[in-house]
Amino acid sequence: MSELTFRWPEASDTERGGAALGACLRGGDAVLVSGDLGAGKTVFVRGAGGALGVTAPITSPTFTLIEEYAARGRARLVHMDLYRLERAEEAEVIGVFDFFRPDAIVFVEWPELIEAAMPPEALRVEIKGSGATERRARFIFAEEFWGERLLPLTVQ
Ligand SMILES: Nc1ncnc2c1ncn2[C@@H]1O[C@H](COP(=O)(O)OP(=O)(O)OP(=O)(O)O)[C@@H](O)[C@H]1O
Ligand SMILES: [Mg+2]
Repeated sequence: MSELTFRWPEASDTERGGAALGACLRGGDAVLVSGDLGAGKTVFVRGAGGALGVTAPITSPTFTLIEEYAARGRARLVHMDLYRLERAEEAEVIGVFDFFRPDAIVFVEWPELIEAAMPPEALRVEIKGSGATERRARFIFAEEFWGERLLPLTVQ
């Protein structure tokens, strides 16, 4: 396992962190975003969306669970929030797995609710902190390709 760590004192830092990651992503990538309620997961995804050319406002898909946005080129940004998933079997019913496609960049909030079903090669982002406190984030990955892909984030 490798990891990169970041300190995000303000919400704008969280959003910028998302944008920096977004600029490194391409179709087929999956990013699992963990953190307490109000950690800033959606803010982070919004930042990534901006860098990926999503023009529609990215809001929390808490009630719809999954939202899909057109991104730059032919790419799609898929944003899942599994918080309201009541049982793992429900994931299949709502078609969670159909969204992991070569043209889709998938962000998942609350991936731990169906942990075993998440792509093993996904990048993990863990955000610590909530409320008015600053956030600390870890980008965790096992696959070597992530190390190369995230190189721009290590030269700051
Ligand atoms: N680094 C930060 N410092 C301070 N506040 C932040 C930071 N990052 C995000 N926030 C604020 O935290 C609040 C919650 O953000 P957000 O909705 O993105 O959380 P979330 O993790 O998606 O929550 P949920 O689990 O409910 O989906 C927002 O008001 C946002 O502005
Ligand atoms: Mg959220």
